[in-house]
Amino acid sequence: MSKIFVNNSGPLMGEVEISGAKNAVLPLMAATLLTADECVIESVPDLADVSVMKKMLASYGAQVDDSEPGVVKVKAENITTVEGDPELVQEMRASTMAMGPLLARCGRVVQPMPGGCTIGKRPIDLHLKGFRSLGAKVIEEEDRVIIEAGPEGLKGDAIYLDFPSVGATENILMAAVLAKGTTIIENAAKEPEIVDLANLLNKMGAKIKSAGTDMIRIEGVERLSGAIHGVIPDRIEAGTFMLAAAITRGKVHVKNAIPGHVRPIISKLKESGVTVELTDDGIFVDASGDRELVATDIKTLPYPGFPTDIQSPFMAFLTTVKGKSVCRETVFENRFMHVVELNRMGADITTENREAIIPGGKKLHGAKVRATDLRAGAAMILAGLVATGTTEISEIYHIERGYENVVKKFKALGADIVKVDED
Ligand code: EPZ
Repeated sequence: MSKIFVNNSGPLMGEVEISGAKNAVLPLMAATLLTADECVIESVPDLADVSVMKKMLASYGAQVDDSEPGVVKVKAENITTVEGDPELVQEMRASTMAMGPLLARCGRVVQPMPGGCTIGKRPIDLHLKGFRSLGAKVIEEEDRVIIEAGPEGLKGDAIYLDFPSVGATENILMAAVLAKGTTIIENAAKEPEIVDLANLLNKMGAKIKSAGTDMIRIEGVERLSGAIHGVIPDRIEAGTFMLAAAITRGKVHVKNAIPGHVRPIISKLKESGVTVELTDDGIFVDASGDRELVATDIKTLPYPGFPTDIQSPFMAFLTTVKGKSVCRETVFENRFMHVVELNRMGADITTENREAIIPGGKKLHGAKVRATDLRAGAAMILAGLVATGTTEISEIYHIERGYENVVKKFKALGADIVKVDED
């Protein structure tokens, strides 16, 4: 089991380049199943989840060429099966992204049920509600779901999402682009990753309007063609490195970040007393000097609210500022697993249902901690940078699912961090 060791590192200084977004590239890759032509996706991050997605596309019969670094070419000319591989689904929940494209392209899909994970049950009821609205028959079995379009294929309809689910919005979008007639998704997710997906689909010949708003309109078309598309930068990686500067009281230029995608993080860091300036190619974060940083409360919400994926890294930061903060998690039902780990380091956080109380003003100490999910793992690295002594992080495969070259990027900013491969 590999581990990451972090020593107290002092203020981080320098520049970090943000990679392509994990939560954009996965649906973009799934969308390539919608056409027999070749699609080229650029600025692809080198992540474990991307490797699983490549395997998944190949398991459906697509040709996947990743010989050029940062580029994935997919040609799904012949779909050889519509049955998902249970192992791949267990490995990565985002494999549910194949349901929409396969249903649209082949009229049938058999999807092994994705497991929950540490942050919640992760149901797909809203995805299935959308497919039913498009006229598909959905048969839910014990460990898989079978979805079949009628003999005339999918038919557009108005679909209301009870919660603005990112995955459900993406799956319904990919199913509706080849449906007959018009589909309206109401209370749709508005994340930048939805807009990125709609941009690729429109390049492929789809007719999608108002992606990024809570009402997306799709005019179905007969077929889609290949396209070339670059992945947007990862706003969650950007937020993580902004917080690395803040927690270590350093100065970091987060290059290639899109300020408009991280507004809540910018606002909350400024509320704490951190200087945040926009540059012509990113965001400059300055928490240096003897300024006193103060507490601020956060409440996670669907975009454009405060992102749930930044909740745990932000909590690590709040343990070190003066005063009590309250952190409210409204998106996932169990996303405080990192509290136990931060408390091993002396954070003294208490939780009540979906609310965490962070007393703040703590001098953390190194400890043996676990990465309980992808973002919690990042939070452990941030805490380890300022804790006295050494912090040993296990289960780091979570971190490598979503952060490209994470150790190298932190090292380049002056972090005392190393990955040790232990068998
Ligand atoms: C996406 O997950 C992201 N993953 C998550 O990032 C992110 O935290 C989440 O959106 C919210 O922003 C990818 O894009 C690959 P949801 P997704 O459907 O689509 C409930 C990370 O760390 N829900 O918006 O699964 C669900 O239980 C990961 O990068 C239903 O009830 O999120 C949750 O409470 C973690 N029924 C809430 O909605 C459904 O059918 C938000 O889920 C679907 C979702």
